[in-house]
Amino acid sequence: MTTRPTPPAPPEFGDLLQPHRESAAFLEFLALRRSTKIAQFTEPGPSPEEVDALLTVAARVPDHGKLAPWRFVVFEGEARELAGRVIEKIARERNPDMKPEQAETERNRFLRAPVVVGVVSHAIDNHKIPVWEQILSAGAACQTLLLAAQAMGYAGAWITEWCAYDNQLAGAFGLGPGERFAGFIFLGSAAGETRERDRPRPPDLIARWPPQK
Ligand SMILES: Cc1cc2nc3c(=O)[nH]c(=O)nc-3n(C[C@H](O)[C@H](O)[C@H](O)COP(=O)(O)O)c2cc1C
Repeated sequence: MTTRPTPPAPPEFGDLLQPHRESAAFLEFLALRRSTKIAQFTEPGPSPEEVDALLTVAARVPDHGKLAPWRFVVFEGEARELAGRVIEKIARERNPDMKPEQAETERNRFLRAPVVVGVVSHAIDNHKIPVWEQILSAGAACQTLLLAAQAMGYAGAWITEWCAYDNQLAGAFGLGPGERFAGFIFLGSAAGETRERDRPRPPDLIARWPPQK
């Protein structure tokens, strides 16, 4: 069995931190980061204890107003199959003529990875902190979860598909008013090789102001 790195215990309020330490390893990790294709996910995934440790790290994101405008719904073990039945039922309501293969696809959606974490954006309307900023914080939680899981040696992918956009499904998974899924973070191990994808070129994305003549 491989020993995986685990995050340190979360600091207590007021503890002295060293947040700007040089880390060539972390820079390399970020520079070579890559998601795993959904078809490549395999066992094992993080254990419940590891998931809890990862989510503790994922909750350490910038959060204007300390609103914690996110929370997590974990689907692991047999719960993924139960979730699949809920997904299939709602998909059938949307499309009563669904073919058996499509029904199977719906049923298996959360069985494609050992662990699926729904990251819930929980934004408060009419608050002095704009909803936009609260949603951005949920996105940061998604990416931090991905990075933390990958640093623990697990494969990860941020997936929305139709499930993140269906209000009835959100309700079935326990989401309340003002809540929506920012995405589902699929976690597990990767079968096969991972190669770099085509990416935008940073010079095309960077402007300096004022514009250079
Ligand atoms: C909000 C969000 C939703 C996404 N949803 C999907 C999805 O439903 N299906 C999918 O194949 N990729 C989805 N992706 C893209 C992948 O997570 C991944 O970013 C993409 O394949 C590029 O790979 P990379 O992360 O290694 O750059 C989504 C990405 C984001 C940010």
